[in-house]
Amino acid sequence: MFDKEVVTRIIDQMGLGDFSQATIRDIQALSRQLEEKTGEPVIHLEMGVPGLQPSQIALQAEQEALANGCATIYPPNGGIPRIKQAAAKFVKAFIDVDVAPDSCIPTTGSMQGTFAAFTAWHHAMPEKDTVLLIQPGFPVQTTQCDVIGLKHIGLDIYDYRGPKLIDKLDEILAAGNICGIVYSNPNNPSWVCFNEQELEGIGRLATKHDIIVLEDLAYFAMDFRRDLSHPYQAPFQATVARYTDNYMLAVSGSKAFSYAGQRIGVMCISDKLYHRVYPNMQLKFGVGEFGNFFSNRLMYTFSSGTTHSVQHAMAALMEAAVEGSYNFLDDVKEYGRRAKFMKDVLLSNGFYLVYDNDMGAPLADGFYFTVQYPGMNDLQLTRLLMYYGIAVYPLDTMGSEQQGVRICTSFFSRQQEPLFKQRIEQFHKDNGQ
Ligand SMILES: Cc1ncc(COP(=O)(O)O)c(C=O)c1O
Repeated sequence: MFDKEVVTRIIDQMGLGDFSQATIRDIQALSRQLEEKTGEPVIHLEMGVPGLQPSQIALQAEQEALANGCATIYPPNGGIPRIKQAAAKFVKAFIDVDVAPDSCIPTTGSMQGTFAAFTAWHHAMPEKDTVLLIQPGFPVQTTQCDVIGLKHIGLDIYDYRGPKLIDKLDEILAAGNICGIVYSNPNNPSWVCFNEQELEGIGRLATKHDIIVLEDLAYFAMDFRRDLSHPYQAPFQATVARYTDNYMLAVSGSKAFSYAGQRIGVMCISDKLYHRVYPNMQLKFGVGEFGNFFSNRLMYTFSSGTTHSVQHAMAALMEAAVEGSYNFLDDVKEYGRRAKFMKDVLLSNGFYLVYDNDMGAPLADGFYFTVQYPGMNDLQLTRLLMYYGIAVYPLDTMGSEQQGVRICTSFFSRQQEPLFKQRIEQFHKDNGQ
């Protein structure tokens, strides 16, 4: 355990109090100070940053593209043909869904893609002013709605899975004010994955209520319970796209391809939605077609497209994955191994999983999971774990109504395993009833 007084003094100096206002950056800054003052390493489980090296395929493709002069030329707003074709093939190979290359638009990370999606919804359906965020979720998406001026409501899936989820969504959508639903699958932070029945229900409701579903595939194919790594072979990534035409799939280069720093994702819009004309967009912007508006009004005004060289990198990764010459999941399976180790240690030391099952089945081991320790709330647990040199992120900042903390496996190395075990055992010894 770290020197109690030192930790308390730094927390007080930083004005973090009970941690109720602490951001992830505050937790990182606190960790850094603790490391400096104590000379001991903090185990970083708070960040959601990929901790693996990207493939040479991406680096080489980007270097070649730069050497060939792409840096001087603006890319097209809707993306270069190479990535549009690669993304359409990738979606077919790993999701088994048909989208035209035109409907695949590179964005500066999924972050920009979701911002553009919400903006498009806002202008397409001014009469529906609210986004429904399935919670817990990625908090920045809530902020994106705020920035755009869209209202938002959340639904915590803790008590709503299966038919209960679908009934609840139907009830919420019946009010007529929701323009779209967003969720990540697997879910950040709980690693819950919706099953086919749930996705069928969500898709059916999207068609029934004429709303759009944004399926955030930031952790593409990382449900490691099933091997989703073989192109054109079942099983495929689960998706709502099988059940409605009103979908947008946000595929990110950040986690599955460890390419977060270069900021690339691809927004794949259903062909039907891409070509749908929304009268309000036509009236206000002279472009009524949804996909055309996305590329030529939104991607154009946001950033004039996505960085040229990185489009080649992402395209090369997708091409190699589709050809079967590069198994992108081989590298990231390491996250699953780490999660299993950490869960074993935590669960045998009094902790319990908060979001703990997928409709009765055990959750996959992956990038994140959620835990809690009895007898305290999530802020108390976050603060107390700092005294043991373990940085985590409280769930209440992620739209959850449950008490718990998010554990991210990405920065946890094999060398830290004995230290983690020792610190967690000490924590349990000191705090157990
Ligand atoms: C659920 C979710 N969506 C989107 C993102 C952002 O992805 P990108 O880096 O592609 O912008 C993240 C990143 O942590 C995420 O967890």
